[in-house]
Amino acid sequence: MELLGNWQRSCYCGDPRPAQVGQELIVMGWVHARRDHGGVTFIDLRDRTGIVQIVFNPQINEPAHTAAKDIRMEYVLAVRGTLMNRSAETINPNFPTGAVELQVSELRILNPSRTVPFPIDTETTPTENARLRYRYLDLRRPQMYANLLLRHRLAKNVRDYLDGEGFLEVETPFLTRSTPEGARDYLVPSRVNPGSFYALPQSPQLFKQLLMVGGFDKYFQIVRCFRDEDLRADRQPEFTQIDIEMSFIQPEHIFRLSEGMMTNVCRELKGMDIPVPFPRMSYTEAMLRYGNDKPDIRFGLELRELTMLFRETQIKVFTDVVAKGGIIRGLIVSNCTFSRKEIDDLNPLAQGFGAKGLAWIRITNEGWQSPLAKFVSEEKKAEIAAALGLKEGDLLLMVADQEKVVCDVLSRLRLYLGDKLGIIPKDEFRFLWVTDFPLVEYDDEAKRYVAMHHPFTSPTEEDIALLDTAPGKVHARAYDLVLNGLELGGGSIRNHRLDVQQKVFACLGIGEAEAQEKFGFLMEALSFGAPPHGGIAFGVDRLAMLLAGAESLREVIAFPKTAKAVCLMTQAPSPVDPKQLRELSVKVDL
Ligand code: AMO
Ligand code: AMP
Repeated sequence: MELLGNWQRSCYCGDPRPAQVGQELIVMGWVHARRDHGGVTFIDLRDRTGIVQIVFNPQINEPAHTAAKDIRMEYVLAVRGTLMNRSAETINPNFPTGAVELQVSELRILNPSRTVPFPIDTETTPTENARLRYRYLDLRRPQMYANLLLRHRLAKNVRDYLDGEGFLEVETPFLTRSTPEGARDYLVPSRVNPGSFYALPQSPQLFKQLLMVGGFDKYFQIVRCFRDEDLRADRQPEFTQIDIEMSFIQPEHIFRLSEGMMTNVCRELKGMDIPVPFPRMSYTEAMLRYGNDKPDIRFGLELRELTMLFRETQIKVFTDVVAKGGIIRGLIVSNCTFSRKEIDDLNPLAQGFGAKGLAWIRITNEGWQSPLAKFVSEEKKAEIAAALGLKEGDLLLMVADQEKVVCDVLSRLRLYLGDKLGIIPKDEFRFLWVTDFPLVEYDDEAKRYVAMHHPFTSPTEEDIALLDTAPGKVHARAYDLVLNGLELGGGSIRNHRLDVQQKVFACLGIGEAEAQEKFGFLMEALSFGAPPHGGIAFGVDRLAMLLAGAESLREVIAFPKTAKAVCLMTQAPSPVDPKQLRELSVKVDL
């Protein structure tokens, strides 16, 4: 192997153009491909900017040409040479450097490479396990570089925007106390305080509120958060937020600021002009029309309420459910061309989503085709068809169950069908504010009310009185920003008055002693002239994923974890030395 010596790179591999022909250049990079042709060896040399063809001609440098024969994929080279025009028939219009090539006069092999587990190109898709195990090789693929470049630009764009709006980026601690955001904490044992633990922050929620008490007025931070929760394609155990808090504001200020930030990002990074203001929808309306609080409004296929229409039929699966306080809702697929098998296959799918079954009716030129047709009188059929505007070719899919199950199943079925029918416009960006959330929801397992967002969210002023009598009816001053069916961000106006915060704690079953123990510092701060304040936090990984058109957060995170929260490259988490555990006064009991 050779040393780099005093060689200095004159340009990146992606840079050479016909204008530089005749110049002597030094380029460095990885061997992307090698071809031997009529005594001449061609190598495609690659770096993060692209590929340049370098040519080893025995007549120019015999030893270099001989050495080039042993060069393998992903070797690291430095070459000096003269830039030449390619002959007309060898010009490759697929590469920006495709009209030129470098005639090598000197070669330095800086490092060899073992045979790589997968080729570094755009054609092959290695298995995800291989990609994560050898992430540093995966990162050499142009798509990963493009994704991380986009993420870099996103962060820079956001910082510049918020700086321009008068925000200050302030860092908050990672070694801290638990902030309840609805997930489990990652704990860190303290060596110097045996038996005590820090929690890694699920978000900087309380610190940003304390910065408002500290008079900072406008705070932001691009910050890592840690949540031990069940992972999915859109969840990672550590992820990044654009975290924002402001004083003396209304939700309108947050909407305007966020819309400015998002449209700026879309314009600068994607060249897209998104109209403002973004549409808004109440939580109740979102649940009714789409069955969830993060509706993808790029397509229709909205839920239909069917309880009243079907309760008086002889369909036992329906009448039983309604008698138990359940509801019936459905979806209408117009001009449906599904085969009988395709329809039957929806049943196990819906069951996988949690339904007991999926009922269906197809409107044909001979009337209703459905296993349920015989349980519905002709009169009732006509009434139903008229009420729903059913026409020939329509397929009505129905679920009867408790409201929560119906909403959940149909919202997932809606997304499945949208995809199957190809009616989701993939390159559209549709933002939506979801507002007027309930403050709390009843947790059947825990048998108590839990916060829909977090316990620091303010109820609307007119609902404060209901906290004691009907907590389920209290509205929160909370809002979520949804993009293409993904929850991109969420926030709220907070409880800046101690008495209201105490009432909310009480409503959540957090007694005075517990509140004091866990959030004493916050309550103390609220008693020292806390200004009215509120904020929001956006998921950077999710936003980057949508901007990159990727399907998983792992595509926009340099070193992500698997669904089992494992890093396949470092093998974290791992057992530790017993000595370390002793120092931390921690015993492992498996
Ligand atoms: P929330 O819990 O809604 O609010 O989080 C804000 C946003 O962070 C993103 N996010 C995640 N992204 C990837 N993986 C995860 N596991 C994950 N969890 C959340 C989502 C989400 O919308 N402190 C409050 C904000 C506030 O009230 O101001 C908070 O953290 O995009
Ligand atoms: P069964 O009486 O269980 O054979 O069901 C008759 C039909 O009704 C089948 O197509 C089931 O998939 C469907 N079905 C059963 N339970 C429900 C339900 N809760 N909601 C909608 N359809 C159901």
